[in-house]
Amino acid sequence: MPWYSGLESVLRRDEPLARWTSLRIGGPAAFFLAPPDEDVFAGAYAAAVRSGLPVRILGAGSNILVCDGGVQGAVLSTGRLTLGPSRTNGTTIRVGAGKRLADLLRWTARQGLGGLECLAGIPGTVGGAVRMNAGGRRGSIDARVNRIWCADRAGNLVIRNGDDIRWGYRSTDIQDPITAVEFVLESDRPKSVADRIAGELAERRRLQPVRAVSAGCFFKNPPRRAAGRLIEMVGLKGCRLGGARISEKHANFIVNAGGATAADVLRLCRMVHRSVRERFGILLEKEICFWPEDALGASERSKRCADG
Ligand code: EPU
Repeated sequence: MPWYSGLESVLRRDEPLARWTSLRIGGPAAFFLAPPDEDVFAGAYAAAVRSGLPVRILGAGSNILVCDGGVQGAVLSTGRLTLGPSRTNGTTIRVGAGKRLADLLRWTARQGLGGLECLAGIPGTVGGAVRMNAGGRRGSIDARVNRIWCADRAGNLVIRNGDDIRWGYRSTDIQDPITAVEFVLESDRPKSVADRIAGELAERRRLQPVRAVSAGCFFKNPPRRAAGRLIEMVGLKGCRLGGARISEKHANFIVNAGGATAADVLRLCRMVHRSVRERFGILLEKEICFWPEDALGASERSKRCADG
């Protein structure tokens, strides 16, 4: 019996991941599963883990670069885990990991629940945002996470308290896939919440190429420095290699200007990394995830780019 026995209805073979990533780049996933609820998700995760294949979790695909050859093994999409948000108690809400942040934020404004406005404009899912500790200048998601539900390798749904998670700058120690999140928010006037969200979105539109096809900021900001500024200072704004271009508006965005391949993006990434290292002695660390992780492993220089 194949490892995906019983999961055929939620399985696609050789699914092109370009369809599922905001960069519109990436080869196929050998197995692509989109379970309809948390229990099926947990079972599918356990089955995939038991099969011994590599297992990757896909949210909105807004923070990944998938290589042109695609990925072996299984990709589990949280795209259908969109239950909620619903109030569980007062200002406490629970929401499925696959819910888009934008949808969640619209709901919090309608409900008059404040606390997540710093996430306005981030184009990911709730689960992806928690996994990466997404945020911006005004804060990050960790401040509001009360509990998360994860699928464990045995197929159980387990709860982790926010306080027990190790939160870093765009990183956490969460390994297992998140299926749902509970936030503790604050009562506020709907208009105040909506205004803060609108302000955040307007600022993003002013500073970032929000309409461009991209995966957001490509590199992390080094301590006390801004990657975008460093990349601008080495003169790479607007630089184009194949279909990949460094945004004119914000130099930490690599955009797919039309027909870009992952190879184009990686060449540009290496060029940025080398230029910033040579000029400033700073090793930029990538913010986005590469699938596979060693996508740049072909050469030593590219590896350094991948690993930061
Ligand atoms: N800058 C330049 N040239 C550029 C871009 C920026 O000189 O091309 C300068 C700006 O003038 C500013 C500084 O760099 O002085 C910082 O730029 P900005 O205010 O745009 O913020 P950022 O540090 O580049 C961070 C997050 C963004 C988040 C914004 C707003 C990181 C790597 N980036 O950007 O997150 O949206 O703050 O809160 O932490 C993302 O994670 O994908 C992302 C876009």
